[in-house]
Amino acid sequence: MTDAKDSAKSANAMWGGRFAAGPDAIMEAINASIGFDKRMAAQDIQGSRAHAAMLAAQGIISDNDAEAIREGLLTVLSEIETGKFDFKPSLEDIHMNVEARLKEIVGEPAGRLHTARSRNDQVATDFKLWVRDQMDAAIAGIEALQRAFLAQAEAGVTHVMPGFTHLQTAQPVTWGHHMMAYVEMLGRDASRFRDARARMNESPLGTAALAGTSFDIDRDATAKALGFDRPAANSLDAVADRDFALEFLSASSICAMHLSRFAEELVIWSSAQFRFVTLSDRFSTGSSIMPQKKNPDAAELIRAKVARIFGANTALMIVMKGLPLTYSKDMQEDKEQTFDAADNLMLALAAMTGMVIDMSANVEALEKAAASGFSTATDLADWLVRTLDMPFRDAHHVTGSLVKIAEDQGCDLPDLTLAQMQAIHAEITEDVFTVLGVQNSVASRTSYGGTAPGQVRAQIVRWKEKLG
Ligand code: ARG
Repeated sequence: MTDAKDSAKSANAMWGGRFAAGPDAIMEAINASIGFDKRMAAQDIQGSRAHAAMLAAQGIISDNDAEAIREGLLTVLSEIETGKFDFKPSLEDIHMNVEARLKEIVGEPAGRLHTARSRNDQVATDFKLWVRDQMDAAIAGIEALQRAFLAQAEAGVTHVMPGFTHLQTAQPVTWGHHMMAYVEMLGRDASRFRDARARMNESPLGTAALAGTSFDIDRDATAKALGFDRPAANSLDAVADRDFALEFLSASSICAMHLSRFAEELVIWSSAQFRFVTLSDRFSTGSSIMPQKKNPDAAELIRAKVARIFGANTALMIVMKGLPLTYSKDMQEDKEQTFDAADNLMLALAAMTGMVIDMSANVEALEKAAASGFSTATDLADWLVRTLDMPFRDAHHVTGSLVKIAEDQGCDLPDLTLAQMQAIHAEITEDVFTVLGVQNSVASRTSYGGTAPGQVRAQIVRWKEKLG
């Protein structure tokens, strides 16, 4: 691929000393990360400003040079933010693009910025700052969704619906209880991001290429300036570590998996066969050919997003697996996947929040479904145990026989006559009918964490206090 024109290209301005020729075009294409790592421009400039201030405070560069660098970096930032910056692939990455432009703006002092630093600790710092922001954004997005579920729970504490196992009618539950199940799941998701954030909050800056530096730097100062709790304790580990991105991706994967489960429920619930919920027009789409259609596309896309997010997690695990210490260029492959996963997680959280806020429960359809499918069979068995002191296994058998009769007749359990029941077991009394209604069924499940409205209200109160 090398032709005369390529080899005539001038050597890189940053390390040209050792090189007679510039890179082949293909080399440049595979090597450059500026196409994506420009997303870390703000973090890169933040890190460099902190580094320059520290170098001056330590007497390593002059105050005047530090001032010129710090001001110049703000100019670079504003050029980037206003779209005026000319990103150059020949300068490989965001770090060198920023430094090269700084040199054009402030001249000689720009060359002093890279003292006691390497792109290895620089990229680790920038990426950590970026991922940390995403962790905060994920927590905020999760909490917004929790609030949406809480509002649905509050509005429907006493609505009954079928609870499923194997997607077969199991026992009646309350709508509020079902909504609060997601509040719990999302609570664990937020706490995973919080845990990961606390663990990753150590500054790599000043670990330099890998071994530390001979300059008398103050790593505590830069750590503090960048909001880190402390400097990372081992320079080799600090430049080689991408655990923070992996933890972000794995927490994101679990969260996206949770979203996919509710997305799937929405797809089922909004179908003509279930009609448990009506989705808003704002979060549905139509069909270009079938006029009656209202499709839950947002739910389907949320259901699918877990694929690419988990894919990013897998990809980065494989990139990092087997890498010898410390930095290898393989690690440049950490960013695109993480950026994509973060974008899609935030989008999925926002879309789900919108759908949950807007959706309306079809109370009648829910109640009708709750009362069908012999959903109170367990209540009947429990009644036999409690009232007639029957062993549960025998009660299970008696109830099974009654379900069979109802099924053959095409009716539900409360529609059987007392005589039909007594034909199966003579001691059954009229009182049994009190437990066969769905409202009574859910009201009876008062054990801690159970579906009774009182229990659900207690969950709501606890979460409202927690979310503030
Ligand atoms: N663009 C690089 C990355 O994302 C920056 C670090 C380069 N370091 C190096 N020694 N070549 O990983």
